[in-house]
Amino acid sequence: MERRDCDAVVLFGATGDLCYRKIFPALYQLVRRGILTVPVIGVARQGWKVEQFTARVRESLAAFVPAVEETVQARLMSLLRYVDGDYNTRATFDALRAALGAAQRPLHYLAIPPSMFAVVAEHLSGSTCAQGARIVVEKPFGRDLASARALNVTLHAHFPEPSIFRIDHYLGKEAVQNILYFRFANSFLEPVLNRNFVASVQITMAETLGVAGRGRFYEEAGAIRDVMQNHLMQIVALLAMEPPVNTEGESLRDEKVKVLRAIRPAIPAELVRGQFAGYRSEPGVAADSRVETYAALVLHVDSWRWSGVPFYMRAGKRLPVTATEVVVELRPPPARVFGNLGPEQPNHLRFRVGPEVAIALGAHSKNPGPAMTGRDVELFVAEEQGGDLDAYAVLISAALIGDTAHFAREDEVEAAWAIVDPLLRDATLPLEYAPASWGPPQAERLLEGPCGWHNPGAKPQDWQRSCGR
Ligand code: BG6
Repeated sequence: MERRDCDAVVLFGATGDLCYRKIFPALYQLVRRGILTVPVIGVARQGWKVEQFTARVRESLAAFVPAVEETVQARLMSLLRYVDGDYNTRATFDALRAALGAAQRPLHYLAIPPSMFAVVAEHLSGSTCAQGARIVVEKPFGRDLASARALNVTLHAHFPEPSIFRIDHYLGKEAVQNILYFRFANSFLEPVLNRNFVASVQITMAETLGVAGRGRFYEEAGAIRDVMQNHLMQIVALLAMEPPVNTEGESLRDEKVKVLRAIRPAIPAELVRGQFAGYRSEPGVAADSRVETYAALVLHVDSWRWSGVPFYMRAGKRLPVTATEVVVELRPPPARVFGNLGPEQPNHLRFRVGPEVAIALGAHSKNPGPAMTGRDVELFVAEEQGGDLDAYAVLISAALIGDTAHFAREDEVEAAWAIVDPLLRDATLPLEYAPASWGPPQAERLLEGPCGWHNPGAKPQDWQRSCGR
């Protein structure tokens, strides 16, 4: 990896919600660790001066950083600059170039709607602010395969691919990185992670919250675009990929792209869409909205390793708990040596990737006593909170030093869109489900085998799944 540290950070959309909720608290953490020492220039069209910008940053820290340390806050404040102006006007970018002073390697963070990317990239280029620069772009990266391709073409007109950092904040999460680590740092697991031993894989992303005031945004997205094409597809890629040669350079991303390309485009017949009762009364939501707040689907990975093993994926708002879990279900032993009195659950490997980090192995153990009967047990092999750097801080610090490993590459984003693209034009009415339920019961029919969906629990140790149907 070429290590060339950025010498300034430029935040487009500096007065917006993403900066307020995620980016300012992340910058604070980086200052605290001594990772961020370069000027941070906010850009927006708000008629503000730097005083209002610093006040906004202070407010954000008070709201989202537990126990703000005065000295760290003061250090962050001393780095802040502000440029006010319209993104459509060249003068804004000339003012930015002046504010950058001697900086030659700025990191431009586009926390703005994708419809603005083209004009900002063009003006950055015209004003020479793009020279030696890196650019960070937020999701959504397009709204289907065609628009993602068009966006890539737009960005490439001004920035080479190694300078483009597409954020998927799941890639900065401790627990998601741990899937990669746990798979390839151990030898006991790898021999069984394939079609010979695995019956199926399930990934569930459950959230108790509804659309939380983001109705207008969500109407343009829906569960498939909002979290499946990106967060959940990245988890699938990490679970299903072949071992990378190392995690430097492009080898990790090469392997992810290979496996994403091996996944068949999903089909509407293997999709269940749901909408929670009450969604249509949310602010910004159409009274006859057909947008899904829940989706469950089946993926088929046509690779040597995974052929024939279904990957089930599900995500929903207003479900009973907030948790994201992966369950790899193993095939039963070849013979029932202990008759039918044994446990019900198949062996499994369970990764909890949010909000806590946990890894567990589901196995069978003998009941104490003379009879050879058993019970289901789970061995927790890890359970710990993530580090003190949150996903945004991890990713911004990587972008500052030019490490692209945990960002989505152009072909990766396009391969992920290609998988869900056939589902995006489904205009059928989603099935209504009750808030705090596990979504439409019809989703059970997607599954093969005797067991239903694995439902994560509120605590990492708790989960339920019924078998024997
Ligand atoms: C975002 C989605 O990308 O991820 C949200 O737009 C979702 O709808 C969020 O709630 C979930 O992220 P996390 O880190 O809370 O699991």
